[in-house]
Amino acid sequence: MSLKPSSSSPARAPRIVVLGSLNMDLVLRVPHAPAAGETLLGHSIATIPGGKGANQAVSCAREGAQVRMIGCVGDDAHGSALRDALQRDGIDTAALRTVAGEPTGTALILVEDSGQNRIVLIPGANARLEVDEAALAQQLQGAAFLVAQFETPLDQVARGIAVAHGAGCKVMLNPSPVQPIAEPLWPLIDTLVVNEIEAQALCGQSADSPQEAAQAGRALRAKGIARVVVTLGARGAVAIDADGARHHPAPKVQAVDTTAAGDTFLGALAVALGEGQSFDDAVRLGIRAAALCIQQPGAQPSIPQRDAVLLSPLPPDWITL
Ligand code: RIB
Repeated sequence: MSLKPSSSSPARAPRIVVLGSLNMDLVLRVPHAPAAGETLLGHSIATIPGGKGANQAVSCAREGAQVRMIGCVGDDAHGSALRDALQRDGIDTAALRTVAGEPTGTALILVEDSGQNRIVLIPGANARLEVDEAALAQQLQGAAFLVAQFETPLDQVARGIAVAHGAGCKVMLNPSPVQPIAEPLWPLIDTLVVNEIEAQALCGQSADSPQEAAQAGRALRAKGIARVVVTLGARGAVAIDADGARHHPAPKVQAVDTTAAGDTFLGALAVALGEGQSFDDAVRLGIRAAALCIQQPGAQPSIPQRDAVLLSPLPPDWITL
């Protein structure tokens, strides 16, 4: 008798390589973001491991993948703490470089009472990332995805994507903070994950509603990408592929801190796709993971384990657009 793997019982742990940033997040909880010239009394301050690359690596690991992180930290206490944090999640840090004379990346994050955040990033050592093409090609053997973002130098991200494409490894790109994507890069991307602001910046069309996000996603797909996800925060996400566009609503939860929600979503999406789950099941898993993430403060401490995600409420059914 052959057993068909279900969406909740993965057949194997995919390998995922993350090329990206590591930041120490300096998190200020405030009633609201201060206006220009305003002095504001905040609630608290905390130092929490973050960075889009590292958060996505942690999300992949907590979803059950074997993860390798490629990135740079400074030769300082924050760098050691970030390396240790990844290792505690079982992430391979052999390709994590310590750069002498550079501070570790730092993100100043204001979290409002509403849970919304505002982030200022000082890249520090992240700006020194250099892709070793031969080493990366080796590391990508057998990997389900190369995952990348835009918090490290764009020319190096482009190199990484080209190496992955040449090695036959799929690329999942989260172009955040958003910057233009060079034309030759588009067809090398398998899965693009953007929020509504990034979608609009990349295709010039508003993506504020599910219908608009579907249109924007179709325009981005036309550049040569197999799958696009436009995340819409509390309204869920829109998945666009060759079969069309579907709006996946999110479960209603009370947001405490939205930091790393997108990273959590992406990690769950990548692992589920790497396991062979359908695009829609993978998006639903990502939405459930992100819904748990936003109910906890901080970046990496708020990223849930797969067991917790599978125990969380199912989102409403998707709507074909
Ligand atoms: O996506 C959230 C992350 O963005 C934070 O952890 C912060 O470091 C910034 O990079």
